[in-house]
Amino acid sequence: MRDKSYQQAASNKSLKASHQKTPIKSNKAPKLALMASTIMTMVTGVTLAAGSAAMAQETYLMADRMIDVASGDIKNNPVVVIEDERIKSVTFDANFQVPSGANIIRLAGKTIMPGLMDMHTHVNGDADMQGYRGLSYSIHRFTLKGAKNAHKTLMAGFTTIRNVGAADFQDVALRDAIKEGDVAGPRMFVSGPSMGVTGGHCDNNFFPKEMNVKGGGVADGPWEVRAKVRENIKYGADLIKFCATGGVLSKGTKVGVQQYTYEEMKALVDEAHMRGLTVAAHAHGTDGIKTAIRAGVDSVKHSSFLDEEAIELAREYGTFLSMDIYNTEYILGMGEKAGFTEESLNKERQVGARQRQSFTNAVKAGLKVVFGSDSGVYPHGDNGKQLARMVRFGMTPMQAVQAATIMPAALLKQETNIGQIKEGLYADIIAVEGNPLDNMASFEDVDFVMKGGTVYKNKD
Ligand code: ARG
Repeated sequence: MRDKSYQQAASNKSLKASHQKTPIKSNKAPKLALMASTIMTMVTGVTLAAGSAAMAQETYLMADRMIDVASGDIKNNPVVVIEDERIKSVTFDANFQVPSGANIIRLAGKTIMPGLMDMHTHVNGDADMQGYRGLSYSIHRFTLKGAKNAHKTLMAGFTTIRNVGAADFQDVALRDAIKEGDVAGPRMFVSGPSMGVTGGHCDNNFFPKEMNVKGGGVADGPWEVRAKVRENIKYGADLIKFCATGGVLSKGTKVGVQQYTYEEMKALVDEAHMRGLTVAAHAHGTDGIKTAIRAGVDSVKHSSFLDEEAIELAREYGTFLSMDIYNTEYILGMGEKAGFTEESLNKERQVGARQRQSFTNAVKAGLKVVFGSDSGVYPHGDNGKQLARMVRFGMTPMQAVQAATIMPAALLKQETNIGQIKEGLYADIIAVEGNPLDNMASFEDVDFVMKGGTVYKNKD
């Protein structure tokens, strides 16, 4: 997705007037969470004396099956004990006797697995606002879209997202609002404004020169690039995102053509790594992909035109790759109805099939392919649709599930917190009907979502 940096220019005047904090109450999840805690209190009879330390609250979660993403096995009759936000124990026992009075969630007929993770989202944009359509929206309006879309994403079973590109640090605000419980949404790891060259995919090229619109993440030359990394860190970025090639949805850029020299990419990556942040590169074209890998990026998104050498480089450097292979169906299917420009539709016709081929080749080569969907290009909440496509284009069902759970946890360096159903990790757990590995489409409508021990969705 194109970084909506023009929103920054549009909003500068009004920012001063908008300092009050307005908690946004999500209509469903907080109520459910509240209900869950009330029910727990009723069932266990625990009453907390005012001022006393909160007593640990245990929940027993039981289902028919569990996908163990570490071993790649399906295990029967899991019993997961959850204390507060984290998992206390995981055992497998068909005849487990729950202690009387305990809080129980019984998911009969269902399979549990770790919450899904999407390593490429743009929650502050909507899919029907492509091309020139979004230009009349204020940055505040986009921020509110983010609150709505974060909720949708969580309800779709995605308990963690990496949001790569948001104007004026809207993503930082949303991440923090979710953390503080103002808004229901996934755990967010965010980049702030996407970095890129003047006139590149991550600039904003929709306006004429006299309007003087410049993308918030534009920086040219190694030192400017270092300064921009520092600025993004200053305002709360968890990672750095930059554009290494042109893109499909920007105006006047060529998908196959590299943007940023090796020196600029190297300076960006070194500065970010020195400060302890990872780097994600948007790259379609072969040269841009290879240069980004050689500069040391942690992950490449899109990865559309991989050749043999790019595959070897990704292996040698251990680079994570993601391919947004559902997007092409949506873009070509919607066409101008969603606002996609003729220029973008033409570029999509060059990219879609090649990207799917690259996905197949990368999987065959055993590279670290993670789930990244570029949500916001297609509607938020439909993220799960890509899992079936990942199987259609070469992964086993288990590999696709691992690409959306344990592997992103490694990319985010969060293995001790998320990515598995395992003792000590956050209780981020979803459930689907039957065995989803036999029917990948079941990920398009998950039945149960728990994040950090709180139930946000339970269809039963
Ligand atoms: N945000 C991406 C870009 O503008 C979308 C690419 C979508 N197409 C695809 N085949 N994955 O470049």
